[in-house]
Amino acid sequence: MAIESTLLIVKPDGVRRRLVGEVLRRVEAKGLSIEAMRMLTIDRSLAEEHYGEHSEKPFFGELVDFITSGPIVVARLTGEQAISVWRTLIGPTNPVDAPPGTIRGDLCTVITENLVHGSDSAESAARELKLFFGE
Ligand code: RTP
Ligand code: MG
Repeated sequence: MAIESTLLIVKPDGVRRRLVGEVLRRVEAKGLSIEAMRMLTIDRSLAEEHYGEHSEKPFFGELVDFITSGPIVVARLTGEQAISVWRTLIGPTNPVDAPPGTIRGDLCTVITENLVHGSDSAESAARELKLFFGE
């Protein structure tokens, strides 16, 4: 057993499309626990820090514009191997390649507007949870 915590974000497209409940339903049905959660609109400096690993990429400006474009929902998820379990529920980055059954495979088509975020490693989870929840 390896109980982990990870960061969930429902991105602005998910909130606008009223898919918060659908995303959280899948999280809870899988068996992960929502231990903390809130809705907020992030400023550019928090967005640039959160996605800092991509600062040199050509899509960075578009990514920051999008993630700051409206309210998001952030949550701390906890459970058995929660980091990889949550990434598996999400599916691949590009929704066009995401298989049915995954959140991105079932619910979106555009890479920028890919609905949700999940931490990609234990180091990312620790860093991102600190940014959004201070722990
Ligand atoms: P996320 O961090 O949002 O959970 O997504 P991810 O791990 O699946 O993908 P990542 O490589 O971390 O990229 C972060 C976000 O940048 C956008 N992106 N656009 N135009 C492009 O080629 C491109 N590549 C990535 C996506 O919205 C991705 O979620
Ligand atoms: Mg990522």
